[in-house]
Amino acid sequence: DARRPILAGNWKLNPKSRDEALALLNGLSPSPSDVDVLIFPPLPYLGDVLKALPAGVQVGAQTCSNYEEGAFTGEVAPSMLASMNVGYVLLGHSERRTLFGETDSDINARVLTCLKEPNLKVVLCVGETLDEYEAGLLNSIVDTQTRKGLSGVSAQDLINGRVVIAYEPVWAIGTGLTATPEQAQNAHTVIRNTLAAMYPSTAVAESVRIQYGGSVKPESIADLMSQPDIDGALVGGASLDAASFNAIVGGA
Ligand code: G3H
Repeated sequence: DARRPILAGNWKLNPKSRDEALALLNGLSPSPSDVDVLIFPPLPYLGDVLKALPAGVQVGAQTCSNYEEGAFTGEVAPSMLASMNVGYVLLGHSERRTLFGETDSDINARVLTCLKEPNLKVVLCVGETLDEYEAGLLNSIVDTQTRKGLSGVSAQDLINGRVVIAYEPVWAIGTGLTATPEQAQNAHTVIRNTLAAMYPSTAVAESVRIQYGGSVKPESIADLMSQPDIDGALVGGASLDAASFNAIVGGA
């Protein structure tokens, strides 16, 4: 399998102070050489986090602007992140979609703006809500979010690994309910089939890494990673405890 595992910790709006953030960071183990480990801390901590990173661990931002520069108060541009040696931007997280009203087209604009920066990679999140899941809409929601999120993205950027997709069933985020490895594998297959339908080159569907996210714990990581189309995990709550995150990375 040519797809390098990728384990990411999304700190969301935590921890509440710089000191606590640095304490969490200090507890993280260096990255094993055969996986990508990254953390998404809140933006104000980025400078300090970048100075104190454990060896091999990479850093991402939790969102960014779709504007490149100018009179857009409060926004953070992809070029600013790239110039700080931030390597990834998380886009389309379900919390951005549901709480902050980001649409597929907003998310696509951010994806395209980020990809103009040669050193930035994107983690694009997709996933169905509980209502959608119960209505049998998983396949169509995940297919639509993937297509719209990636609209205009070149096959070459995907083959070059510039986009990672994170499948996060919204009903499993922060709820303690994890999709079974089989449920997650099924959704990852839907995403790979969408990629195959969107891009004539079979290299695209085969090379894009797809992470699972939703209540991932040290106890659940090995079974998830054993599925053929699951290439990593996007970890929320458990990434706020250094020992748990280290155990997830170690167990992947
Ligand atoms: O970005 C991470 C996901 O939303 C998963 O969060 O592990 O707390 O369920 P969780």
